[in-house]
Amino acid sequence: MSGSSVVFEVGNGGSLRGELRVPGDKSISHRSIMLGSLADGVTEVSGFLAAADCLATLQAFRDMGVGIEGPIGGRVRIHGVGLHGLTAPHGILDLGNSGTSMRLLSGLLAGQRFDSELIGDESLNRRPMRRVTEPLRQMGAEIATTEAGTAPLKIHGTGGLKGICYEMPVASAQVKSCLLLAGLYADGETAVIEPAPTRDHTERMLAGFGYPCQRAGNRISVRGGGRLTATTIDVPSDISSAAFFLVGGAISPNSDLTLRHVGMNPTRTGVIEILRLMGADLTIENERLIGGEPVADLRVRTSRLRGIEIPHGLVPLAIDEFPVLFVAAACADGETVLTGAEELRVKESDRIQVMADGLRVLGIDATPTSDGMHIRGGQLQGGSVQARGDHRIAMAFSMAALRAASAITVHDCRNVATSFPEFVAMARSVGLDINSRTETG
Ligand code: S3P
Repeated sequence: MSGSSVVFEVGNGGSLRGELRVPGDKSISHRSIMLGSLADGVTEVSGFLAAADCLATLQAFRDMGVGIEGPIGGRVRIHGVGLHGLTAPHGILDLGNSGTSMRLLSGLLAGQRFDSELIGDESLNRRPMRRVTEPLRQMGAEIATTEAGTAPLKIHGTGGLKGICYEMPVASAQVKSCLLLAGLYADGETAVIEPAPTRDHTERMLAGFGYPCQRAGNRISVRGGGRLTATTIDVPSDISSAAFFLVGGAISPNSDLTLRHVGMNPTRTGVIEILRLMGADLTIENERLIGGEPVADLRVRTSRLRGIEIPHGLVPLAIDEFPVLFVAAACADGETVLTGAEELRVKESDRIQVMADGLRVLGIDATPTSDGMHIRGGQLQGGSVQARGDHRIAMAFSMAALRAASAITVHDCRNVATSFPEFVAMARSVGLDINSRTETG
């Protein structure tokens, strides 16, 4: 292998104590740039996540002529160009590792009158895109992909989409949001039917920008031809980033950690419910509503966890948290069984396989299945594991060291910067013995 790679060296043992405010929510940060760009007027964002994924979205909109100031200290000022004010980018839009950028932008770009091309890194260029290109084609979009249905996506902007009613085969907020964004440009109504609830930040934020978005049961719809009015957005801390610390605090002895200002949107709180079912000592304090999104402080203390069968309904509500929930399961008494989570195989990595491989290296009895995993709790050993370029796996295995018999080395951690660039410093500040080094090879 050539190039450089980031390695985390994590000493075993210790406790997590004190307070943290983890960085801003990734899903909300992406959407703030997208809707702010399409709005009339100036949108002010605070708490923006200045991580590689959201910066890829930000750069794409700059490339399409939107004036964006910042981010400075989490503040971004977006000079919206209106729904029809984007201009053709001069080159290919490179979205790095970010599936949210690519899937949401594909819908938005299908509605433009100019052509565009989207690419990603090696991981993103492998991820399935037919889930968005097929319904977009039904709306009249012209999009070319590779034969495998993957990026690069070449979008021919015809400016002539028509609304459809689409029953989603997978519970995916990215697909839903893609179609709602395309729907802003379509004739008539665009409706999406969800097989299970998924994160609803797009719907909430459309409402915040004054764009009507209807929900009737599991059917969400917009009508084309409206307008968005600039607003202010206060991005809460990302519960998906907080999750590493919730698990770390629960599994380590003598821990007592408070995570401040965490987004508690009910379509995102599956991790809290699952940890509570496992017996975690987790309290929700100071609940409040900020800019249409619920926020709270979360306090976690050392807990004796037990294995559970994870309820299916909670799977889409905790979809990004399974890498660290698998670590919780490895520290629990008895067996934890996850099913109905085949989506984990097509995330930034195959999270079922990569986590099972690493847990086995660490001495845990973990059996991957097509749609989940069986994990028998036991004594974690130290060792050397691969994150395979997946940010959430790198952070999950770092937390495992709190309960391991010796140190853990995690390879291929560079992409932690896609969602949580401050992870190492913040984790150290509350007690994790973690160091990052760059390896050339
Ligand atoms: C996201 C939706 C989820 C999630 C991803 C962010 C979003 O993906 O895994 O990290 O911001 O809409 P799917 O829609 O593929 O489940």
